[in-house]
Amino acid sequence: MKAAIIGSGYVGLVSGACFAEVGHSVICVDTDGDKIDALKKGGVSIYEPGLDELVKSNLASRRLAFTTDVGKAVRESELIFIAVGTPSKPDGGCDLAQVRQASWEIGRSLGDDYKVIAVMSTVPIETGDEIEKIITRSSGSLNFDLVSNPEFLQEGSAVGDRMNPRRIVIGAGSGKAAALLEEFYKPFGSEVMTTDRKTAEMAKYACNAFLATKISFINEIATICEEVGADVTDISKIMGKDPRIGPHFLNAGLGYGGSCFPKDTRSLDQIANLKGHYFALLKSVIEVNNIQRQRLLRKILYELQPIDNKRLAVLGLAFKPNTDDIRESIAVDLVGDLLEKGARVKAHDPIASTNASKILGGGVCSSDLNEVVAGSDAVIIATEWPVYRELDLEYLKKVVAEPVIFDGRNVLDPDKAFRAGFKYFGTGRQKRQPDIEGIGSFSETFIEAGDGQSA
Ligand code: UGA
Repeated sequence: MKAAIIGSGYVGLVSGACFAEVGHSVICVDTDGDKIDALKKGGVSIYEPGLDELVKSNLASRRLAFTTDVGKAVRESELIFIAVGTPSKPDGGCDLAQVRQASWEIGRSLGDDYKVIAVMSTVPIETGDEIEKIITRSSGSLNFDLVSNPEFLQEGSAVGDRMNPRRIVIGAGSGKAAALLEEFYKPFGSEVMTTDRKTAEMAKYACNAFLATKISFINEIATICEEVGADVTDISKIMGKDPRIGPHFLNAGLGYGGSCFPKDTRSLDQIANLKGHYFALLKSVIEVNNIQRQRLLRKILYELQPIDNKRLAVLGLAFKPNTDDIRESIAVDLVGDLLEKGARVKAHDPIASTNASKILGGGVCSSDLNEVVAGSDAVIIATEWPVYRELDLEYLKKVVAEPVIFDGRNVLDPDKAFRAGFKYFGTGRQKRQPDIEGIGSFSETFIEAGDGQSA
């Protein structure tokens, strides 16, 4: 089938490449001419495992094309996806400017043939009604159906998520539109869940808000763990064995960041407010996340006082591993806060240091791990990249000035760090330092290492 995707960011580009991979003929659109010129030559500017190869091979097979011309893409396609950005507004609401613009332009190019327009961007409930009106006005046509088709891709594993979706949600008012989308998604072989448009829009927010709730919940448990001397990583594993709870999204840490959870939780809260509902639970989730961002900072300032001129090595800048995305990255905020407090910070990220240096400066960010840790007064792990899990602690001990680790993502084994001679401060775990030596953690022999933990 022929499909157009309006918006070639993470969601649009990954979806376009995967749709082409299963045999559809896809044309991806973006207003950024430089980006489209680069993509036409196979140049993918974002880091997403597997995406580069997929774009190149599907360009070569001519199933994937790129353009800045919305009209051409719409005229050539029977199915049009809207995948433009919906960033946060300063008041926490969702900025729909790009969605409205895309809808207007799609409408202007609709001809006489029936088309299905599917909204993949995360938009507030009832936005579909507004888009439908905009397209009707700009096209003067009623020969289209507007469908909600939320995506559930995780950055870092977006290609795999798109190729093997756990479910495909189609929120359609018309059976004809739903049938066309079902046909389109058939090659993926996943369960298709058809519902009405508002339910599909709401389902996307419900999923992200629930996952954010799990994270804030475990972070609250982590805080109590530190007070009572329990270990939150063992608690997550124990909780995760109960299928009613499930093992995922129970990793305590610095809180959730990125381009989705912070924005979508704020947006759902605003939607609830507008509808006259005080969403107490979601407000707490957001508040806990905001507090959690500060907790590690306070711990570092307390343990290392005075912080002035302390040489700190922050490991990780991306909002999570396997991406170069630093949008709402707590790691980047942490580096900024530490610099503001007078520390001398060097920060490492395997992939995101170039992006982060645009905010923090090239003198702070580096992709050379050895250079960053050498001579530091403390090492702070802020993103759980696999390379940090495998740190050679004996080597690290030799090159740092002071053997202190703040493990903001609980990637290290506290006992190993302690045995290697470090003072170890985890998140929701007991401190490991000489004066409290001997306090043991829940035996790893009871729990299979790494079992049930999400990346
Ligand atoms: C999230 C959802 O997981 C996707 O299903 C959804 O499609 C996407 O948003 C979206 O709305 O487009 P993403 O933002 O890529 O995906 O990243 P996640 O893996 O969900 O992580 C979000 C944040 O939560 C990260 O900062 C991560 O470090 C944090 N997190 C995650 C934790 O602190 N603990 C956990 O146990 C899991």
